[in-house]
Amino acid sequence: MQGSQVVKAPVEICPLCEGTGWKTVAGNAGSTNDRRVARCDCRLRTRGESLLSAARIPRRYEHCELSNYDTDFPGAHPSLAEGHFIASGFAKKCDPRGDKGLLIIGKIGTGKTHLAVGIIKELIVNRGLACLFYDYRELLKEIQNSYNATVQTTELDVLRPVFDTDVLVLDELGAVKPTEWVWDTVSLILNTRYNDNRTTIITTNFEDQPAAGASGSLSAARAASRGETLGDRIGERMRSRLHEMCRIVSLEGTDFRQKFRNANFR
Ligand SMILES: Nc1ncnc2c1ncn2[C@@H]1O[C@H](COP(=O)(O)OP(=O)(O)O)[C@@H](O)[C@H]1O
Ligand SMILES: [Mg+2]
Ligand SMILES: [Zn+2]
Repeated sequence: MQGSQVVKAPVEICPLCEGTGWKTVAGNAGSTNDRRVARCDCRLRTRGESLLSAARIPRRYEHCELSNYDTDFPGAHPSLAEGHFIASGFAKKCDPRGDKGLLIIGKIGTGKTHLAVGIIKELIVNRGLACLFYDYRELLKEIQNSYNATVQTTELDVLRPVFDTDVLVLDELGAVKPTEWVWDTVSLILNTRYNDNRTTIITTNFEDQPAAGASGSLSAARAASRGETLGDRIGERMRSRLHEMCRIVSLEGTDFRQKFRNANFR
């Protein structure tokens, strides 16, 4: 820039931290010399805003909050209240470096994605954590696109955020079946996050039951007549890994949107 005509807009100084971005908080009750500093609310707000736009939450789920998740409508299955309770506690207290994630299981329309989005929004806004939302199909597409034909390898750098983010939501795991090499990359992502003690929230429409033919599972004849299970879709090895990585939340009942249609709502 030429010249020296830089006009400085008056900056509003945050009264809490006087612009430093840090505020003092009391430590142990009663002790005056145990004072700690924490990020000031003003910084959390701007950090929250940029994290929120980086989280890739799809527009159609932007309205989803834990506070507008209804557990109390006529005929609501009790598992919704239980799921909401677990989700709220998780959003408040989870340690993204060590605590288990959540595996949210239920039929379509039971509010799995709503809860998952509600959780990460709170983690972002209230706790300043970096979170990322990925629809499973989108992730598979991105893995496919990251394949570099010239050097015949996957360029994992493109996927770095999926490995590194504090909390990853993987929505609708198992919705499609990827080719073997794409699945290898999905496994690598989930296993790396597990080994690095990072938290992953997964939703799936498939019942948490073994794959057909897995030991202890149904006879082939009975398996043929049942619906596909999570084990069928992702394999027993990954299903048992998810059990180590995640606490299970089951949402039961019918499609939430159906109740409005039936009640003649719009
Ligand atoms: N208990 C609930 N309270 C409020 N809205 C809900 C509830 N369950 C589902 N919804 C809404 O219904 C729609 C479908 O829910 P969604 O979370 O996408 O279901 P799923 O992921 O289980 O298929 C979304 O718009 C969501 O916000
Ligand atoms: Mg969903
Ligand atoms: Zn401040």
